[in-house]
Amino acid sequence: MSTFLQRLIIFQVLSLCSSLGTSRPLQNDGIPAIAKYFNTKGRYEEVNPYLREDILAVNRSILQPPSAQCREIYLLAVIRHGTRYPTTKNIKDMQRLYNIILHNATGEDRWLRKIQSHWRMWYVDEMDGRLVQKGVDELKHLAVRLSRLFPSMISHEKLRGGFFKILTSSKHRCVDSTLAFKAGLLDQWAITDLEFGHSLNDTLMRFFDHCAKFVHGVDNNASAVVEVNKFKQGPEMRRVQENIARRLGVPHSVITYDLSEAAFFFCAYEFAISSVNSLWCQALDEDDAKVIEYASDLREFWKRGYGHDINSKASCGLFHDVFNRLNRAASENKSGREVTEAVTVQIGHADTILPLLTLLGFFKDSSTLTATNYAEQTHRSFRTSHMMPYAANLVLALYDCGSDGLRLQPLLNEKPVTFPGLSGQTASMPRFEEVKEYYRELLQGCDFEAECKLEV
Ligand SMILES: *[C@@H]1O[C@H](CO)[C@@H](O)[C@H](O)[C@H]1NC(C)=O
Ligand SMILES: *[C@@H]1O[C@H](CO)[C@@H](O)[C@H](O)[C@H]1NC(C)=O
Ligand SMILES: *[C@@H]1O[C@H](CO)[C@@H](O)[C@H](O)[C@H]1NC(C)=O
Ligand SMILES: *[C@@H]1O[C@H](CO)[C@@H](O)[C@H](O)[C@H]1NC(C)=O
Ligand SMILES: *[C@@H]1O[C@H](CO)[C@@H](O)[C@H](O)[C@H]1NC(C)=O
Repeated sequence: MSTFLQRLIIFQVLSLCSSLGTSRPLQNDGIPAIAKYFNTKGRYEEVNPYLREDILAVNRSILQPPSAQCREIYLLAVIRHGTRYPTTKNIKDMQRLYNIILHNATGEDRWLRKIQSHWRMWYVDEMDGRLVQKGVDELKHLAVRLSRLFPSMISHEKLRGGFFKILTSSKHRCVDSTLAFKAGLLDQWAITDLEFGHSLNDTLMRFFDHCAKFVHGVDNNASAVVEVNKFKQGPEMRRVQENIARRLGVPHSVITYDLSEAAFFFCAYEFAISSVNSLWCQALDEDDAKVIEYASDLREFWKRGYGHDINSKASCGLFHDVFNRLNRAASENKSGREVTEAVTVQIGHADTILPLLTLLGFFKDSSTLTATNYAEQTHRSFRTSHMMPYAANLVLALYDCGSDGLRLQPLLNEKPVTFPGLSGQTASMPRFEEVKEYYRELLQGCDFEAECKLEV
């Protein structure tokens, strides 16, 4: 074992021991009160709480095909990597906050005293966003649940017959998630004699790095996120910073936005990685967490969502790739051939899935998320805490319903969702033709090269 890994394990064990001694009784079986506001750092079980009881639970009756003759013929899943360590930038902010607590905090609360006396910083720069053991487990469990939800598709026979295609972003946490997903399948069928490959494709799974108009116009452009910066300077955030400063017993001016976020990260990561309701969670109350959640949603909105058209257009390549695969499966089945790629699994990032969901028109609120409408957006549907926990997944299941034609069912995080613009009785499983009609303009246009070209 590498010394780095050894250090990680030792650090994790130490932190687990120190976190167990929380001063207040744990709420809700050790779940922090603010766990539902963790944005893209949230736990999958907070989105599907029934999994807390049984991590392999599935309920096939949620699928509800419109007629008994419907049979799955193709399944595509775009999956976000599992729980990961913080990035180096986050770790630096967390270290700064920890130093302030050690050297400058004068607050009297027991939890604070206990962090000072017992808690030790165990996050190190080398962790830089790597997949943690919890993340490995998440992908293994997801593989098993998907095979139980779609037993005729994600099956031993299909796997052995070579009908699976697995693609991933080249980022270590995605490759490791891919290996975990594959291991989950092999373990579940106790297969020891089969090797099946996967391929890296960043053009598809990290399109956001390859779209020049997005990179220059949004990703590296501070003006593109002006609403985020305004909100960070606004009255709601100032109150959060004052609250945290008061609890720590430091002057208000010491707690910047980044340090408030670091407190939030400490609680989120200790929970996601080590499953503990850590002492750090007491630095924030629920109202504070909702404000930080909004700041992060604002950022996703302006960088990955509806804020700028190019955010979603950057996913045009993936969009066409998805529909090409669906069309190929449909036409193979129609022409009496066996569907050659019956299951496609594509592992990527929140930054891969959010733009695609946006392009497809999901989670669109009637008004724009801005720096000044925090209260008005209380019930917004664009809420990453619900949409994008670790291991978030978008599944498209194509059914042949005999005389009733082909039907397409979208599921987000294992729950049926309805394509926007398609309503009616069978809206959760509309005709494939209807879906293509709804997206006709995108299917005829939405050309990655053309959309992403820099205008000079
Ligand atoms: C399964 O889903 C169906 C349909 O949504 C629901 O009526 C039923 O209560 C669920 N069963 C369980 C055990 O959750
Ligand atoms: C914290 O205290 C140290 C000395 O104990 C001092 O040098 C430093 O400026 C203080 N930092 C802040 C942010 O107040
Ligand atoms: C990645 O996927 C795209 C779209 O399917 C394809 O055109 C391209 O050849 C793939 N690249 C690699 C390296 O496989
Ligand atoms: C940066 O963003 C602003 C606001 O969206 C936009 O007006 C400007 O053109 C962008 N700059 C570049 C270089 O694209
Ligand atoms: C096409 O799909 C239907 C429904 O599952 C199935 O009965 C039929 O055998 C498929 N055709 C071929 C050639 O696989």
